[in-house]
Order: sequence, then structure tokens, then C-alpha cells
Amino acid sequence: MEQTFVMIKPDAVQRGLVGEIIARFEKKGFTMRGLKLMSVDRAFAERHYNDLSAKPFFNILVEYIISGPVVAMVWEGKNVVSTGRKIIGATNPAESAPGTIRGDFAVEIGRNIIHGSDSVESARKEIAMWFPEGIVAWESSILPWIYE
Ligand code: RTP
Ligand code: MG
Repeated sequence: MEQTFVMIKPDAVQRGLVGEIIARFEKKGFTMRGLKLMSVDRAFAERHYNDLSAKPFFNILVEYIISGPVVAMVWEGKNVVSTGRKIIGATNPAESAPGTIRGDFAVEIGRNIIHGSDSVESARKEIAMWFPEGIVAWESSILPWIYE
């Protein structure tokens, strides 16, 4: 089953949106396989956003991610990478549709409250980086009510 890495960014932790965000993935029918609150250092944040290192906003982005604790998560389910990105909404909250997480709870691109892996390959790398200890092996007993 496909997995994705989702990070609740420091602004959403400070704003008390952790439960709301987790609930959206849970209610959709995806399975939680990893969850932890953590503070990351600059080198780790730079490595996570390595692909964006040439962007003019890179340093501001790294400062944002290290400005407070984040919640690192692994979610599992059919097409969870692309569907997870749809649940999250467009990068710029000004363009995120209402009903998406960013569309409902964020205003500016530099405070867009959540990260989701952009491909299965990115997800694999990000899960390995954020959960070197591994994720939790369990089988949800409600899967027959979600998958035919
Ligand atoms: P993320 O990686 O955080 O899930 O976001 P994303 O795929 O939707 O967008 P991406 O292009 O990967 O950008 C990563 C994060 O950088 C910040 N950003 N700022 N000031 C700007 O123009 C700008 N563009 C991007 C956002 O926090 C974005 O989520
Ligand atoms: Mg991205």
C-alpha cells in the first residue's frame, strides 16, 4: 500500500490545528503509520527542502520550518500521495480551494501550515529521513469498510 510523508508545520502547531489536520486524514480513510512531535535543526530542514536550495525563498523557508516544533507523520492508503496533496490544497493558500486544509486554514504561502510529499519517490526518501527508526506495523480493522 502506498505511503506519504506529511509534516504539520510550526504555525499550525502553534495555532492548535494538529487535531483538525490529523482528523482530515483519518476521516478520509487513510491509515496512520507514524506520528511524532519534533524540533528539527537547520541542517535537517535544509536537507528536507534540498530540491529548493536554489530558490530565493530557501532561507526564509528553512527559518520557518525551524521556528518551532513540527508534527511528522506517515499516512498509508490507495493513491495517498496524490490524494493527500489534494486534501492539503495548492501551495499558495490564496489559490487553495475551500475544503482543502490550506484553503480553510491558511492565508499566505510562507505560512501554509502543512507539507505533503510530491511523489511516491519523494515520500520514500522523506519517510526514511524523518523516521529512521521505522514506522509502526499494524493493520487497521476497518479496511474492508474502505476498500471493496
Ligand atoms: P511542501 O513541499 O511544503 O508540501 O509545499 P509544496 O510542495 O506545495 O510547494 P514547494 O514548491 O515544494 O514549496 C515548499 C514550501 O516553500 C514555501 N514557498 N514559499 N515565497 C514563495 O514564493 C514560496 N514558494 C514556496 C511554502 O511554504 C511551500 O510549501
Ligand atoms: Mg514540495
